[in-house]
Amino acid sequence: MRIAITDGLHPDALDLLRSAGATLLVEHHDPEALASGALDGVDAIIVRSATKLTSDVIHATPTLRVIGRAGVGVDNIDLSAATLANVRVVNAPGASTRSVVELTIGHLIASARLVAPSDRALRDGRWMKKQATGSEIAGKRLGLVGYGRIARGVAQAATALGMEVHAYDPYLPQGVDIAPAVRLHTDLDSLFSTCTHISLHCNLTEESRHLANAARFALMPGVGADGVACGNHVVNCARGGLVSEEDAAAALESGVLASLALDVFEHEPLAADHPLLSHDRFLGTPHIGASTLEAQRRVGLDIVDAVLRTLETGTCPTVVNRDVL
Ligand code: MLT
Repeated sequence: MRIAITDGLHPDALDLLRSAGATLLVEHHDPEALASGALDGVDAIIVRSATKLTSDVIHATPTLRVIGRAGVGVDNIDLSAATLANVRVVNAPGASTRSVVELTIGHLIASARLVAPSDRALRDGRWMKKQATGSEIAGKRLGLVGYGRIARGVAQAATALGMEVHAYDPYLPQGVDIAPAVRLHTDLDSLFSTCTHISLHCNLTEESRHLANAARFALMPGVGADGVACGNHVVNCARGGLVSEEDAAAALESGVLASLALDVFEHEPLAADHPLLSHDRFLGTPHIGASTLEAQRRVGLDIVDAVLRTLETGTCPTVVNRDVL
C-alpha cells in the first residue's frame, strides 16, 4: 500500500503507517504537479489544509481509494469529484476539539483585556496602563453560532468562567444534550441582539457566508448582563468567510465592535496589507486552532487509523462522503 502525505504528519502517526506496512511518500507538491498525476500510483493521500484536492487532481490519480483529511474541515477537497471517482474521504473530527476550545477562550479573554494592543504598545516603548482598561467576561452573555462539539466545549468553559451562554443552531440533531445553563435561540438575529460576545462554530456554506455582518453587529447590545458597558466582541476560530471582514473593519472603526479576534480568514494566508491589520482592537492568529502538540498527535493517529480501516474494510466511522458506491 502506497500512501502520500503532502502536508506533514506527526512522527508517531508516520510510525503507525510504517508499522502497518505502508510505503510512504512524504512530500508537498504544487497544484500543477498534482494535476499532472504526480501522485498516480498511491492508494491514499493524507492532507491537512494546504493541499487542494481538486477534481483535476483526483482524476489524475486513478489509483486513489482514500483521502484522509488530518483535521476537521474538508473544504480543500472536491467531495463530489471524490464521490464520483469512488474515493472515500475521511477526517479526524474530534481530535482538535480541546485545542480549538482553548484558543477560543483565549481569544475571548485576550480581546476583552486588550492583551494584543497592550503588548504592541509595550514593544513600542509605551506604558499603556490607563488606556488598557478592559472588561471581565464573567457576567456577560456569550452567543455561540453552531452548537457542535467545539461549541459545547466552549459553552462548558465559558460557563465555568461565569458567562451566561446562549446558542443558535438550526441543524442541531434530535436528542443532543443541551447543558441546562445554555439558552437556545431559534433566530440568529435574536442571538446577536442578546449577546455582547459572539463566537462562531459552524461550517462555511452559501447560507452561513458573512453571517456576521454590519446589520448583525448593529444588533449587539454593547452592555453586558451585569450592566457593564463592555462593548461588543466577536471571535471566529471556525472558518474564514463567516465574518464579513470588510464590515468588521468598519465596525471596529466606528466602535460598533469593541474587538474582533480571528483565527481564520476569507483568504489565507492573510495579506500583509489587509485593512484589519491597521486596527488596534483586532487580534489575529494564523489558523492555529488545531496547532498544539496534543492535537497534532491525536489528529495524526486518528487519521491514520481512519485511512487504514477504510483501505482495509471500505469504510470507517468518519467517512464524510457516505454516498460512494
Ligand atoms: C481543521 O479543519 O481541522 C482546522 O481548521 C485546522 C486545520 O485546517 O489545520
